[in-house]
Amino acid sequence: MPRGFLSNVKVLVTDPIADAGLDTLREAGHEVETAYDVEGEALLDAVSDANALIVRSGTDVNEAVFEAAPDLVIVGRAGIGVDNIDIDAATDHGVIVANAPEGNVRAAAEHSVAMAFAAARSIPQAHARLKDGEWAKSDYLGTEVNGKTLGVVGLGRVGQEVAKKLASLGMDLVAYDPYISEERADQLGADLVDLDDCLAAADFLTVHVPLTPETENLIDEDALANLEGGYLVNCARGGVVDEDALADAVSDGVMKGAAVDVFAEEPLPEDSKLLDVDDIVVTPHLGASTEAAQEHVAVSTAEQVVAAFDDEPVLNALNAPSVDESVFPRIEPYIGLTETAGKVAAQLFDGRVERIEVSYAGDIAAEDLDLVTASAQKGVFEPLEWNVNAVNAPRVAEERGIEVTETKTGSSADFQSLVTVTVGDGADELSVSGTLFAGDDPRLVSIDGYRVDAIPHGHMLIARNRDEPGVIGFIGTVLGEHDVNIAGMFNARETDGGEALTVYNLDEDLPDAAREELEADTRITEVKEIELNGD
Ligand code: NAD
Ligand code: MLT
Repeated sequence: MPRGFLSNVKVLVTDPIADAGLDTLREAGHEVETAYDVEGEALLDAVSDANALIVRSGTDVNEAVFEAAPDLVIVGRAGIGVDNIDIDAATDHGVIVANAPEGNVRAAAEHSVAMAFAAARSIPQAHARLKDGEWAKSDYLGTEVNGKTLGVVGLGRVGQEVAKKLASLGMDLVAYDPYISEERADQLGADLVDLDDCLAAADFLTVHVPLTPETENLIDEDALANLEGGYLVNCARGGVVDEDALADAVSDGVMKGAAVDVFAEEPLPEDSKLLDVDDIVVTPHLGASTEAAQEHVAVSTAEQVVAAFDDEPVLNALNAPSVDESVFPRIEPYIGLTETAGKVAAQLFDGRVERIEVSYAGDIAAEDLDLVTASAQKGVFEPLEWNVNAVNAPRVAEERGIEVTETKTGSSADFQSLVTVTVGDGADELSVSGTLFAGDDPRLVSIDGYRVDAIPHGHMLIARNRDEPGVIGFIGTVLGEHDVNIAGMFNARETDGGEALTVYNLDEDLPDAAREELEADTRITEVKEIELNGD
């Protein structure tokens, strides 16, 4: 589904988000349907005509959802974790997945700190007993955080925020994160160590990693034994900590306590062992549940959905080439131009496309062009009727064994910026180059080695013919006889009397009869029609 051409966008929201997000969607003219707590067939039914889907952690967005939603363009996750979304399946279906990685960081960090105190000072347990009329003052002897060591597993956005907050309360910091730089850890005053050393040093261990195959059960029975006498806080993701082993470690007195906000299965089943252990504090996935955070993630997610249908960059796209907001205006016109060059090249090339080269010369070469290169691939694949967009085009190329290369050179002899898409197989290749006149007026300036000046839009006819008197007149007459108006024309030739290439912009489709008449003339060696969308 070409994103920019939808007049009525339907956004389905299947987990509650703040009203401000729904308002942002409606103000953009989108139709918003909320269907909370739907699953199974009801979810598939609800999503079947949706163009966008917005979820939190409560909706399982799996392959079946993408299968059931042929018009889906984007899934927005109003929050950070995307473990409930099958991103591979989304990419296969050409659907953008975007999250809101900033909006609830502070809320999650504050909840983690609150949970550390709740466990260390038995606040929920004492509270519950006092509400029951029991003055249990002598039953609780807590642990101070001041002077203790905090171990942070996953020193990303939330982990860093928790580290800063608890360091300011007098804690020493150690951290385990194989993907963070020593420099960043140093800036926070944290010693970067391996997991065993992190566990051994920590009086409090706080977990802030995403759930991935690598982090699943990362904190297992052995790890918990290493945390002897300490506390564990998990406000990241269920599945990272072995819940049964945690329940045993605390109830056996190996650890002093724990606080857990996220669970392998949510809602937490009533028979979870965690619920039986008094020194384990639990909350029902409340880390991001503050007014400010919910408003922030809802608006941020809605804005990305709106951007997707305005053909603006989706800044937090996780499966599409990302582009900085400040860079986008400079590369935007090249997205369409390169896609067009790819389309024209693919339609003129007679072989099987086995490789694509996208070359940039001049000023444009200085930019980050992943998105533009993806658009060139989209252009090449679209005429082949593969279901592609800039999200899945690189994946489609990889799956089909098509080699894609990007080359850049700072200098361009004749143009300020020039893009060239070359398609080829082992033996032959064909290139199409384009530029922008006056910054935003697209022109094709070279087709298969012929220097041209063609406006790429609408119905185009590209003919190869002998460079003889009367051929162009003949083509014009045939088009006229079939009521096809020529809006523009450019003729280029190899040598006087050799082969020529003529590019026509037509106001109408080329009728089959006209094409047959042109092809029957021995002076015309090839007739190709190119359809460019949107004009
Ligand atoms: P982030 O991507 O900024 O940070 C994650 C960190 O984990 C990164 O620094 C990464 O290098 C590190 N990491 C990845 N794999 C690792 C591994 N195998 N071992 C050690 N470190 C590893 O993410 P974030 O925004 O800080 O969020 C952290 C977690 O908190 C996510 O799972 C997110 O879903 C969760 N979260 C939960 C709530 C809640 O409501 N409880 C709210 C917000 C975020
Ligand atoms: C997140 O990953 O952002 C959290 O799970 C927050 C949420 O949506 O509940």
